[in-house]
Amino acid sequence: MKAYLLSEAGGVENLELRTIETPAIKADEVLVQTKAISINPVDVKVRPSDEALAMILQTEERPLILGWDISGVVLKVGEEVTDFAVGDKVFGMVNFPGHGKAYAEFVASPADHLAKMPEGMNFEDAAATTLAALTALQVLSGEVTAGDRVLIHAGSGGVGHFAIQIAKNMGAYVITTSSAKNRDFCIAQGADEHIDYREVKFEEVLSHIDFVLDGMGGDTLATSVKVVKPGGKIVSLPTHAFDEDLQAKADAGGVTLASVMVQSNGEDMKKLRAMLEAQTLKPHVSITFPFEQLQEAHLQIESGRTIGKAVVTL
Ligand SMILES: NC(=O)c1ccc[n+]([C@@H]2O[C@H](COP(=O)([O-])OP(=O)(O)OC[C@H]3O[C@@H](n4cnc5c(N)ncnc54)[C@H](OP(=O)(O)O)[C@@H]3O)[C@@H](O)[C@H]2O)c1
Repeated sequence: MKAYLLSEAGGVENLELRTIETPAIKADEVLVQTKAISINPVDVKVRPSDEALAMILQTEERPLILGWDISGVVLKVGEEVTDFAVGDKVFGMVNFPGHGKAYAEFVASPADHLAKMPEGMNFEDAAATTLAALTALQVLSGEVTAGDRVLIHAGSGGVGHFAIQIAKNMGAYVITTSSAKNRDFCIAQGADEHIDYREVKFEEVLSHIDFVLDGMGGDTLATSVKVVKPGGKIVSLPTHAFDEDLQAKADAGGVTLASVMVQSNGEDMKKLRAMLEAQTLKPHVSITFPFEQLQEAHLQIESGRTIGKAVVTL
């Protein structure tokens, strides 16, 4: 099969398309013929860094195969697998954190990281509704309740556009940030209010926020502490450790700071499928690339300007 191998951390040129053996499957796995792959900021962040590769892929193995988000067709099922049959169309985030090996024509996936695709859904939309959608679901579930004032930073991005929709479905009042050009897109996802971060300081116009989903980190995270009410919470996606000064400010304001790491989870994939079927969740794929141009997809995500999701097709 063809797969992108990463022998050494580095630039996109280090993603080399090679022919290798199709993977064997374990008893609890299925072999998926990949039809679409979605690319995330994490793919781009780990590629140039041995430290980040070790942290997320949790292996010293080389060469690596990056990627986690797939949709495709089941070609083989392991002897312990009962939920899937050959020919099923499936989608999911494979082995995250871990070595997903998704940039390949065939992927061996634990069956319990996948769900069947909704009837009639195309492979691009299914591949898009994986890591970013799972992140939004896992972060918001159990945190947001009806009537909460929720602030979602980077609402026009992969996680943000799913988070707006999911928070709205939970009955929250949703405020989101992006640049002006993506205002209409954010409102179309269901946001009640939009703030153009280039023109308006959100801390000057917002207060009494119950929950912040921070997709930016840095100054955006630090400033968010000022708008959250006592007892409220900020979950930062890019930040995994908070400096003492920020933690002290949060403590003084009665604000909880938390970081998360999205986890592969077939049950959560089934929840996403139910939302897709009920049409309460809709992915937005703004750009697709053929498999031969996967490096371009990395550059697109690296730009930080992607609207919704970028997907690679096979
Ligand atoms: N911890 C975890 O488990 C986890 C899971 C998923 C993602 N993440 C992290 O979360 C972050 C977001 O991921 P993503 O997939 O949503 O990214 P993404 O799709 O690449 O986000 C792109 C969007 O960010 C917006 N943006 C850029 N700068 C902004 C700013 N200063 N304020 C508000 N919006 C801004 C852009 O809109 P404009 O062009 O309008 O600026 C663009 O639409 C990444 O750092 C990712 O690594 C972490």
